[in-house]
Amino acid sequence: MRTRRAEPEFLGRNNVIFFAAVVLIILLTAVIGYFIYITRLQKTPAKGTDPLFITAAESTARTLWHAPDSNLIPPTEEGELIRYGKELIAHTARYLGPEGKVKPISNGMNCQNCHLSAGTKPFGNNYAAVASTYPKFRARSGGIESMEKRINDCIQRSLNGQRLADDSREMRAIIAWFQWVGKDVPKDSVPSGTGLSSLSDLDRAADPVGGKSVYEKHCLVCHGREGVGLKHPDSIEWTYPPLAGRHSYTTAAGLFRLSRFAGYVKSNMPHGTTFENPVLTDEEAWDVAAYVNSLERPVKVFQEDWPDISKKPFDHPFGPYADSFSQAQHKYGPFGPIRLAQKPKSK
Ligand code: HEC
Ligand code: HEC
Repeated sequence: MRTRRAEPEFLGRNNVIFFAAVVLIILLTAVIGYFIYITRLQKTPAKGTDPLFITAAESTARTLWHAPDSNLIPPTEEGELIRYGKELIAHTARYLGPEGKVKPISNGMNCQNCHLSAGTKPFGNNYAAVASTYPKFRARSGGIESMEKRINDCIQRSLNGQRLADDSREMRAIIAWFQWVGKDVPKDSVPSGTGLSSLSDLDRAADPVGGKSVYEKHCLVCHGREGVGLKHPDSIEWTYPPLAGRHSYTTAAGLFRLSRFAGYVKSNMPHGTTFENPVLTDEEAWDVAAYVNSLERPVKVFQEDWPDISKKPFDHPFGPYADSFSQAQHKYGPFGPIRLAQKPKSK
């Protein structure tokens, strides 16, 4: 009897507790492991959308600014003014060009030729951040600039024209349009996709000769020989606006800076191109910019520009400069060394 009693002793209380503990540990490990597995599954993105493997363009597209729907402009007097502003941007020449029905004060180009889709296209030189950032300080004038001043800058320089009065219905309408376009942009912020793309620097000067071949291959068909453009049959607007020659933008315009021209062209030309699907490489964009900006165009000089010459952008093509790089290098590059020298020196 004693030996029989010893058996249950072998499976006694201590051993039961021991086995129970082992089973519990195995169960716990399984449960914890399962939870870790589940949470990892949720965090692992579907194939092709891993954040590490998206392109810069895709990442920008996800948070990209979009203009408000202009069908929603209210049917009020204020709405009327906004719509007139949009019309003035899209068809400037009909109102303010040499044949314009309001006042002949500009060269026949439309604002929209450079500010695509009335200034609503991502990286199409849009007006996303105009209402949110003006009035603001600009180094070109060395002072605080109003929206009116900035608009007249483009009329005088890009459209080779004369200023619009601040209180004219046309100026009020253009501003109303900018306020509509930027109405969802918080004060002082600049959304993704605003303005123009910035390209990577070349380690050589941009080359007008190489740019001529790019031009012949990708641009000539529309903009014509030497960028003279093609007039619309109504002879008021341009079907293909001039890139050079006496009807084009002046030497004081933003596009006369290579970085602005190259950035515009890269994301928008040939016409219909978007920043997601550029046609030209950065190199081709820089070279075609050099070619077009080496052609003849109206010369306009504003003596009062850049009161502090050390604030001139690296690609401002006119001296005097605060550094010792030549005017040619400031126009065509290589820009890397100039940018490096412009970085604020640490004390
Ligand atoms: C030949 C091309 C061209 C034409 C035409 C043109 N612009 Fe511009 N505009 C530019 C460039 C280039 C810039 C500067 C972009 C930059 O530096 O990022 C600019 C900038 C501006 C800005 C400042 C945008 C900002 O976010 O700070 C305003 C406002 C503006 N233009 C209004 C107009 C208006 C209004 C018209 C028509 C009356 C017009 N532009 C016609 C090329 C043009
Ligand atoms: C399919 C025709 C077409 C081709 C090809 C084309 N463009 Fe354009 N381009 C246009 C049109 C149309 C506009 C005006 C857009 C608008 O008003 O909506 C324009 C506007 C421009 C502008 C701003 C306005 C101006 O006159 O300065 C520049 C700069 C420009 N194109 C450069 C180029 C370059 C460089 C190429 C070649 C890489 C090119 N384009 C190829 C049709 C074309």
